[in-house]
Amino acid sequence: MSTKVAVINATPIPPRSSRMIIDALRNMGVEVKYVPLQYLGLLVGEGESRICLGKDFLELEGGILRGIGSIVTVEQFFARVAILKFLEERGIYLMNSLQSLISTRNKLETLITLYRKGIPVPFTIVSENLRFLYDTLKEKGINDFVLKPIMGSRGYGSIRIQDVDILFQVGKTLLSNNLPPLIQRYVDKPKRDIRAFVIGDEVVAAMYRYSEKSWKTNIAQGAIGIEVKLKGELEELAIKSTKTLSLEYAGVDIVEENDRYYVLEINGSPDFEGLMKVTGIDIPEKIAVHFLSKLRR
Ligand SMILES: Nc1ncnc2c1ncn2[C@@H]1O[C@H](COP(=O)(O)OP(=O)(O)O)[C@@H](O)[C@H]1O
Ligand SMILES: [Mg+2]
Repeated sequence: MSTKVAVINATPIPPRSSRMIIDALRNMGVEVKYVPLQYLGLLVGEGESRICLGKDFLELEGGILRGIGSIVTVEQFFARVAILKFLEERGIYLMNSLQSLISTRNKLETLITLYRKGIPVPFTIVSENLRFLYDTLKEKGINDFVLKPIMGSRGYGSIRIQDVDILFQVGKTLLSNNLPPLIQRYVDKPKRDIRAFVIGDEVVAAMYRYSEKSWKTNIAQGAIGIEVKLKGELEELAIKSTKTLSLEYAGVDIVEENDRYYVLEINGSPDFEGLMKVTGIDIPEKIAVHFLSKLRR
């Protein structure tokens, strides 16, 4: 019997990256279903204990978890997390694991975890107390910083601010919408950062992302990728960061400043199309191979 696996995401139709992973798995002879989280159903109690997709019982050995939703309410988040946890507890192998994906969706949790494991991260401050933020930044003399959403990606919503009073006004608006601002010292990087793509114990591809237009060097913000082979300290940093968050594969963003490196974030469901174009490396195939090797272990 063939292996039954899923690619799980939070959109009714698979995004291109999910589609590419599905194709890679199919090419390897695997039976793959795309599973949108909003179509799952959970039955529990009085003898019931199962998960359905539409009307059918969902029979799975494992899944590649590509997302849990980016614009969701706390209730949706709780429901989806509970269902995915139920799957994992039934022995269905998820990659990345639910816990590790949740940790990377939360930029604050990611930074704290990295910091605690000795990985360099830029000075970061979070509070729902605006006065505290304002006074601390003034005291520390930090007047070039980035305000980021706790849960964000592709550079969307991050703002560079060079005046604490602007922060005060922006922060006030965010907080009145119940959005705690995450503030980070602006790292005076060259006009580039580094994106390392780690699978298992290996950096399988990496690129410099250059931007003349924006301080944000996401490909989605118009940056241009140029392949780079990571060695030594940088390679180790990317792999260690991935392991620290118990991820099987990840996109690691690293910036340089005065011969020092800082990890900005780790993405547990990273995009790879840009990196594929730049390096010619078949990343979805590598993700599929790694997933199957873990699943069959
Ligand atoms: N503290 C910082 N100093 C300098 N540049 C930053 C900083 N934080 C983010 N950036 C720039 O913004 C981009 C997006 O930030 P990042 O934290 O990776 O969030 P996202 O999830 O939106 O990619 C980074 O690739 C980098 O170019
Ligand atoms: Mg990033």
